[in-house]
Amino acid sequence: MSTVLVTGAAGFIGSHTTVDLVAAGYDVLGVDNFANSSPGAVERIHKLAEGTGAFEFVELDLRDRAGLTELLGRRPVDAVIHFAAKKAVGESVEFPFDYYDTNVGATLSLVAAMLDRGVNRLVFSSSCSIYGDATTVPIREDAPARPTNPYARTKWMCEQILADVCRRHSDWHVTSLRYFNPAGAHPSGLLGEDPRGIPNNVLPYIAQVAVGRRSELSIFGDDYPTPDGTGVRDYLHVVDLAEGHRLALAALDDAAGHRVINLGTGRGTSVRALLDAFSAACGRALPSRVAARRAGDVAELVADPALAAGLLGWTASRDVAAMCRDAWEFQRLNPNGYEPGPFDDRTHI
Ligand code: NAD
Ligand code: WQD
Repeated sequence: MSTVLVTGAAGFIGSHTTVDLVAAGYDVLGVDNFANSSPGAVERIHKLAEGTGAFEFVELDLRDRAGLTELLGRRPVDAVIHFAAKKAVGESVEFPFDYYDTNVGATLSLVAAMLDRGVNRLVFSSSCSIYGDATTVPIREDAPARPTNPYARTKWMCEQILADVCRRHSDWHVTSLRYFNPAGAHPSGLLGEDPRGIPNNVLPYIAQVAVGRRSELSIFGDDYPTPDGTGVRDYLHVVDLAEGHRLALAALDDAAGHRVINLGTGRGTSVRALLDAFSAACGRALPSRVAARRAGDVAELVADPALAAGLLGWTASRDVAAMCRDAWEFQRLNPNGYEPGPFDDRTHI
């Protein structure tokens, strides 16, 4: 069975994908520098992979090109799934250099090490944020790229770098997966989303309200042209997303060159509907108040997932109720995420 290098393996999506790959019989070599994750996640992966011996973890900053090249020389690697990146849109506006340095820098370092070691199969974590304020919903992959912030531009640049490398090296096979809004957690309650500080994304914020870490959800605008006035997004269960990566990996051989595929459900959910679904999952009506729109937000983003169905045989099978149930189970069992001890940031309540 083949060996896969998973970068960002301790992160939210990387950890779930690693567990899915190991369960499917892959050997996984995971790397992370814990910039936005904790060794606790690695322990949980080991626990879920127990007895298989199929998961090895190495702490490494991907920008360490020599270290990465050495690692790829240590054991044969057949393919790479590249998750490692910084992902907060607002932070990217404030610290653009850090975003280009980490996201583009790590991708360049990875490509250099892969070229050096003759590894030519890659699945890349891209993002629906590349579409910007899309005019047509649901969004197909051929919609124009209009990234509106440094984070989204790093993803667009990485895609272009990978496309150019594929043009030059005809034996390279790369798939960029543009995901919409990943959410949920592993049904075991062992893995989930554990953002540092105040969550930027709505579902982890709601989960922290449910567990008593935050007082209420601020709904960013209820005057959008949507059925209930709140923003509509295509939330996607992280376990479905993990399965999508495994199928994309298996399908890499189908086509040389660079291809781009959306991963989403094709169904939109409003902020209010999400809050109601989480309230049902945790058994109490969660408090909220309407606040001003957040700068840069758009009314509606929903994927057209037809290409993923056609090329990968992938469709999302888990609904928003399952995302809320699993996210709540993780938050309930791990009120502090992977960190032990009292809440670290109660002052924000
Ligand atoms: P995450 O922050 O939980 O995971 C990213 C991991 O990469 C973290 O564990 C972090 O420590 C690691 N990392 C960062 N810089 C590194 C470096 N220089 N060297 C080694 N490791 C490094 O984020 P996630 O939600 O799991 O996202 C994974 C990928 O998916 C990212 O590329 C992100 O841009 C992309 N993505 C995420 C979303 C989302 O909403 N979660 C949506 C679309 C795309
Ligand atoms: C969802 C909805 C908010 C927080 C981001 C990135 C995107 C991709 C996915 C990486 C919106 C509303 C939010 C809150 C709220 N990530 N909201 N109160 O903005 O769709 O996408 O994550 O690639 O690039 O931009 O996700 O979870 O922040 O917001 O009302 O406290 O929830 O206005 O309508 P977003 P989100």
